[in-house]
Amino acid sequence: MADSRDEPLVLGIETSCDETGVGIVRGTTLLADAVASSVDEHARFGGVVPEVASRAHLEAMVPTIDRALKEAGVSARDLDGVAVTAGPGLAGALLVGVSAAKAYAYALGKPLYGVNHLASHICVDQLEHGALPEPTMALLVSGGHSSLLLSSDITSDVRPMGATIDDAAGEAFDKIARVLNLGFPGGPVIDRYAREGDPDAIAFPRGLTGPRDPAYDFSFSGLKTAVARWIEAKRAAGEEVPVRDVAASFQEAVVDVLTRKAVRACKDEGVDHLMIGGGVAANSRLRALAQERCEAAGIRLRVPRPKLCTDNGAMVAALGAEMVARNRAASSWDLPADSSLPVTEPHVPGTHGHDHVHEVSKENLYS
Ligand code: KG4
Ligand code: ZN
Repeated sequence: MADSRDEPLVLGIETSCDETGVGIVRGTTLLADAVASSVDEHARFGGVVPEVASRAHLEAMVPTIDRALKEAGVSARDLDGVAVTAGPGLAGALLVGVSAAKAYAYALGKPLYGVNHLASHICVDQLEHGALPEPTMALLVSGGHSSLLLSSDITSDVRPMGATIDDAAGEAFDKIARVLNLGFPGGPVIDRYAREGDPDAIAFPRGLTGPRDPAYDFSFSGLKTAVARWIEAKRAAGEEVPVRDVAASFQEAVVDVLTRKAVRACKDEGVDHLMIGGGVAANSRLRALAQERCEAAGIRLRVPRPKLCTDNGAMVAALGAEMVARNRAASSWDLPADSSLPVTEPHVPGTHGHDHVHEVSKENLYS
């Protein structure tokens, strides 16, 4: 390895949605976490516009990489690998990151690691709490995904236990915030309002919690409709909508189901560690209730700090470093951006060998 210390120095690039993230880690130590977000450009549309996101990634890429290298105080030449989110995500947005990663890796003569966005959301916790226990149950909740995953090795084995059958948890927060005219993204603002509201004020439905429902799948679209109807009825009657109580009651319905199912999955599988990741893991009530229920069930809870829960490059670097540490094959130069990369593939080796990287490394095209 290029450095005398034996832990791999890896740069990670994340562009699956609206955040251009570039992170640098050494093994499980975070050195830099630079993020440029285009979220403000999407706000007036109430959701991420793929073409706007792709263009923003293109503009932000080089400056964000430079910023991360500066923050980490390392030279690109010292890297042991370049990791990138190969999927899942927005196709055009992913393509910008994958192309940039290839260009840097090739020019630097470093191995390229195409990794899975969801596995990265899990692996990032190594930067906060050290090596992931094996196995670990992971609850991933964001604007794009809501899944329960069981992993015995984050570089090679991620097993889906359950997932949302309709909306993602974060999507539900965003939609309800929109109905309440609270802006985008909805999660943080609902979290704030909910703190001053009564979570028991309105009994909103808990999706897929009946005795015959799938134990680990989620559904938030019925809840979303119920909340929207409740608000409409209030407005139609000319009554004021109690925003804080609606926010608190809606939030409670979401986090009650998420934590209940996650704890149940741990118990059923005999797993004593639960990690929660993704943007919704920043939710204060989710964190508190998960802590309470895990403690009661004898489960150790691991939740990274909010900045590592939302999309970032450090999580990609963390998984890339783990790939290097475990001697996983590098990706080939024809690594595709795969918008629907299955969660069961933490890493994408590609279809061709990677031998030619060594030829390039002698020349070190990057100056
Ligand atoms: O992981 P992330 O940054 O991007 C995706 O991959 O989707 O997650 C963004 C999502 C948004 O839906 C946002 O509303 C939600 O995470 N979110 C929250 C909170 N902070 C962000 N949801 C609930 N409570 C929060 N405090
Ligand atoms: Zn994500």
